[in-house]
Amino acid sequence: MAAPTEEKYSILLPTYNERENLPLIVWLLVKSFEESGYNFEIIVIDDGSPDGTLEVGRQLEKMYGKDKIVLRPRAKKLGLGTAYIHGIKHATGDFIIIMDADLSHHPKFIPEFIKKQKEHDYDVVSGTRYALGGGVYGWDLKRKVISRGANFLTQILLRPGASDLTGSFRLYKKDVLHHLIDSCVSKGYVFQMEMIIRARQNRYSIGEVPITFVDRVYGESKLGGQEIIGFAKGLLFLFATT
Ligand code: GDD
Ligand code: MN
Repeated sequence: MAAPTEEKYSILLPTYNERENLPLIVWLLVKSFEESGYNFEIIVIDDGSPDGTLEVGRQLEKMYGKDKIVLRPRAKKLGLGTAYIHGIKHATGDFIIIMDADLSHHPKFIPEFIKKQKEHDYDVVSGTRYALGGGVYGWDLKRKVISRGANFLTQILLRPGASDLTGSFRLYKKDVLHHLIDSCVSKGYVFQMEMIIRARQNRYSIGEVPITFVDRVYGESKLGGQEIIGFAKGLLFLFATT
């Protein structure tokens, strides 16, 4: 199919021990973009994964080409928020899509993000699990309570006007993302939440697309006690300062 426009999309994939997932997510992304005809690049930010994720990335780079698979690794695990910031520095697209690399975020939703963005020229389009028919599959009760609790507390304390604050499947205009990043202070998982709060503060327009989040099949979640404490601290900081 011919390219509908000259616009380019940069997809950021942060990885830590995603050896099994990376080839699948990349394959699905390439397939989806080839079908839609939009220009794209996939930026992989691996944080020194001991399982050899970067090696897998190098093979994918050979298969698909350096213009499609852009490897921007870091030496060690420095956290999710700073991984995005690192990746964005290297992005050449007009739009940036941030998503998880473990197949919990399915590339099939991306055409809906793009369509939604174009409908109202949105600055940000956020995937939502908590409205409009979105959902979460495969999480145990504990994990559901943590996620719902984090969203609920944030809704009450900050009233952000978006339904999924902790999710990370989003599309941003590049300049908007750069501006938001400059105003963000968080380093870890709380980054997603701060980004959407700052977007509202700056009166950027936000569209939402319902997504289903399916728990990973391969590997395990990196969300632990430290990340939860980090989230709570970040939330209180934002409550006190915004
Ligand atoms: N480079 C890098 N560095 N990548 C990381 C790091 C890190 O320190 N920590 C996690 N990742 C990558 C994982 O490899 C995966 O691709 C993605 O970030 C999400 O990490 P998971 O560990 O799979 O997160 P989750 O499934 O528990 O959490 C999901 O839900 C959270 C709460 O809603 C994600 O969607 C999070 O983004 C979200 O905040
Ligand atoms: Mn995950």
